[in-house]
Parts: sequence; C-alpha cells; structure tokens
Amino acid sequence: MRYQLIDCGRGRKLEAIGDYCIDRPSPAAADLQPRLPDRWAEADAVVHRRSRGDGWEFRRPWPEPLRVDCGSFQMPARPTPFGHIGLFPEQAANWQWIDRTIREIAGREIAGREIAGRGTPRVLNLFGYTGASSLAAAAAGAEVAHVDAAKPNVEAARAAAEASGLGEAPIRYLVDDARKFAAREVRRERVYDLVILDPPAYGHGHRGVPWRLERDLWPLLEDCLGLIPRHSGALLVTGHSAEVGPAEIRRWLGRFRFPRLEFDSGRAGLRDLSGRFLDAGFYVRAVWGERP
Ligand SMILES: C[S@@+](CC[C@H](N)C(=O)[O-])C[C@H]1O[C@@H](n2cnc3c(N)ncnc32)[C@H](O)[C@@H]1O
Repeated sequence: MRYQLIDCGRGRKLEAIGDYCIDRPSPAAADLQPRLPDRWAEADAVVHRRSRGDGWEFRRPWPEPLRVDCGSFQMPARPTPFGHIGLFPEQAANWQWIDRTIREIAGREIAGREIAGRGTPRVLNLFGYTGASSLAAAAAGAEVAHVDAAKPNVEAARAAAEASGLGEAPIRYLVDDARKFAAREVRRERVYDLVILDPPAYGHGHRGVPWRLERDLWPLLEDCLGLIPRHSGALLVTGHSAEVGPAEIRRWLGRFRFPRLEFDSGRAGLRDLSGRFLDAGFYVRAVWGERP
C-alpha cells in the first residue's frame, strides 16, 4: 500500500496508508496551520500525547496486515507504544540511494551498463530500529549487520523482515551499543562497503550508557571510517540535531581526503497534499573512490 502525508499543522500530521488514516503528533508541524481541516475527521487512528507515554485511539481497527510499499521491499506498519508506525516514510529517498549504491558496488547491471563488481557488498546499519534500511540493503543483494541497543526494536526488525518475505535474507540482528560494536569491528579488522547511521539526538545505549549526538557522533564516525575501504566506499548519516548538520559532517569528512569524495546532503522530509515540506532531519550521503 502507498503511504501519503495528507496534511499537517498545529503540531500534528495526518497520514494515510492505503485508505487507513492516522493522526499523530509532529513537533516539526508546530508552526504550520492545517490546510485541509475537513480531512482530519477521516482519521481511523489517533495518537494522544499523555504524561506517561502516547496512547492510541482506534476508531476503526488497525488492518492486519498493513504493508507499505517502500520500492524494492515492503514494511509492515504497526502501531507502537511510542506513537510510531513501524517505519519512517521520510527515509524513502535514503532507501532508494542505498539500493542504487549497493547495486553499483555489487556490479549488477544498471540501465544496461555492465559494471565491474567486487562480490557481495557488506553493509553495517547502526541504530537500525525498524530495520527498513537493512531491508533496502538486503533487497539489493547485500549482507547486513543490523545493530540496535534496544532488544524489542531488534526483535521487531527481524519480524518486519519475515513479514516482508526477507526472513531468509543475510541480515545479522545484533543487540549492542553502536559505539562498542563499531570499535570491536575495527579491532577485528572487519570491512564494510557501506555504513548507515541514524542516531537519535540523545538516548541510551546498551546497559543505559548515555548517547549525545553532538558529543558522541565524531568518535563513532572515526571508527566507522576505519571499517570502510579508503579506496572505495560509502556512508549515510541521518539525524536530528540543532548543532550538527550536513555542513559540519561534510567538513569533518573532508579532512580525510578520500579519493573522488562526493556528497549529496540536505533535509529529509515529506510533502503533504498541499505541496508543503514537513522537515524530518538531515541526511548526508557520501561516496568515494572507484566508480563506473
Ligand atoms: C532514530 S532511531 C533510528 C531509526 C531507523 N533509522 C529506522 O529507519 O528505523 C534510533 C535508534 O537508536 C537506538 N539507539 C539509541 N542509542 C543507541 C546506542 N548507543 N547504540 C545502539 N542503538 C542505539 C534506539 O533504540 C533507536 O531504535
């Protein structure tokens, strides 16, 4: 089924998956006004922000299964205790970039041009949560290490893969702290062709170790670069932060003087039916070295 952002405003967003409508909080829509006020009455499910966590009100039962078309894969949409729906549709452009980048690395045919490959691409997806980016990589033929500190999130990601018909795909699901895992992989001299990071602005890693993006991103990125071949590789960093954005990350990466380093960066987000852009954080896509 297709995902669509219908309208947003007053700190909320109205979305549709197929014909099932969801009304949820959206801090990014705080300063916007709804443009289609009549459509909000169509909401089948509403997330109410409560002091102790978010609460769902279902005016029509949540259809099971409810799967969202994500290009080369599907994701099951499910209501979570945090008011999430099991995927972040604003990541769609990143899933397409992951697909293209993996196919380029794998040397599969793109647009009729044969490309010299390097065997099965290896992908590390840190802060993997729903697993959508892991499925995008696996659907393109990669072997994936999917890491998240929260066990329930890792189990939900594995279930999403099964529900998407990718239960047998070569994805290792790992409950771990992203920093610890990356540092260990460096010591083991593991190599990945693409590393994906979507850290929260702040949070807690495994065993409650605090995470602060502004402070902890840089040493983690240093380890991640230690896992990617200098002569050819790719990196995707996304996130929300008032202090760190594409400019800071590009400047930081630029210091490493990778060969033929190219960036594609900006703001991720969704467009509503009125054509307005609802911001959902930054993205930085970097590729370097040999390319067809
Ligand atoms: C913004 S979400 C990532 C969303 C993901 N890109 C997706 O599309 O589903 C951040 C995730 O990071 C996890 N997390 C927070 N701190 C962590 C840490 N230090 N190490 C590993 N995972 C962590 C959280 O459990 C959460 O699932």
